[in-house]
Amino acid sequence: MYQIESRKDEHVRIALEKNVSAHHNYWDDIELIHNALPELNYGEIDISTTLFDKKLGAPVLIAAMTGGYELAKEINERLAYAASHFQIPMGVGSQRAAVENAKLRSTYSVVKEYDIPLRIANIGASQLVLWGHKKTLRYIEDIISMIDAHAVAICLNFLQEVVQFEGEPHAKGCFQEIKRLSDEIDVPIIIKESGAGISYDVALRLSKTNIAAIDVGGKSGTSFAAIEHYRAKLHSDYLNARGGETFWNWGVSTPQSLMNAGNATDWKLPLIATGGIRNGLDVAKALVMGAQCAGVAQAMLKPSTKSKEVTVLEMEVIIKELQAAMLLMGVNSVQKMKEVNYELRRGTKGI
Ligand SMILES: Cc1cc2nc3c(=O)[nH]c(=O)nc-3n(C[C@H](O)[C@H](O)[C@H](O)COP(=O)(O)O)c2cc1C
Repeated sequence: MYQIESRKDEHVRIALEKNVSAHHNYWDDIELIHNALPELNYGEIDISTTLFDKKLGAPVLIAAMTGGYELAKEINERLAYAASHFQIPMGVGSQRAAVENAKLRSTYSVVKEYDIPLRIANIGASQLVLWGHKKTLRYIEDIISMIDAHAVAICLNFLQEVVQFEGEPHAKGCFQEIKRLSDEIDVPIIIKESGAGISYDVALRLSKTNIAAIDVGGKSGTSFAAIEHYRAKLHSDYLNARGGETFWNWGVSTPQSLMNAGNATDWKLPLIATGGIRNGLDVAKALVMGAQCAGVAQAMLKPSTKSKEVTVLEMEVIIKELQAAMLLMGVNSVQKMKEVNYELRRGTKGI
């Protein structure tokens, strides 16, 4: 199998078969405050919201996962079906594979067949540096048209690149390229970390560009170091197996990343909280902490290998749990979630 195809396949298989989560989920350190007199009926709760002027059925996003090999087409199709059913945004995985091999385009473009309010294209940041500006502009146009994207996510994944045996940890010039692209590309650009989070300083630098949003992609859920640890073991690569293990819990937690990015940008830039969101209660915590949307990857992966119905059911559960949390806090709209207080648990591991 072509190299990128087998890598994508292994990522998904390992994420399905092994426990690749960070050793602590930092959403557990956030406690929402119960309102024993919510004075609100369940039916009055409005979970609709907007992102980049698109009306969304719920503040939940199906985060970028896959594409680029045969099974990925089925996964993306089932996720797209659920995204369309709930009118929520959906990202596809890095589209580099299809830029380099046209035969793989349908594994991504299948999502075009569904009425999704916000389709998000995806490319790794090291790729931009390797391609150079001219090629990058051309390829970004290509990944947008491949899925009729309404936004592009540029994925900061240097943790993964540095512990991956065939990784390409090229980070020099990345910020400058992001800045140029944010000036030159018409569709909204989301800067997305993929599990290691965002510090205050990085958010501050990003706030000086024309990007449209930050997906803080913090530590709490899927650890790409863990995935690469298992991949390296599969290939009897001791060096990277050790690296993956050592950096398993590297990064800034998702709640902390959210606060960092909010403070650095004065909460003016929409923030997406991906990383460790397991259920609707975690979504509620992310909204209360200032996120516009919460992104779910791993929790949707297994259902999406089964059927469209199972995939829809999982998202339905997440949305119902969000509504339950809103009722229990006496909050009737997504907008009002940001005004609600929360507590940090005592003995917290220092989100
Ligand atoms: C199998 C797998 C593949 C992924 N591939 C990508 C990718 O290509 N691009 C990207 O931006 N993020 C990718 N991610 C990261 C997710 O979008 C998300 O940021 C991360 O998994 C944390 O969310 P979670 O804890 O809900 O899994 C991938 C995640 C998984 C599980």
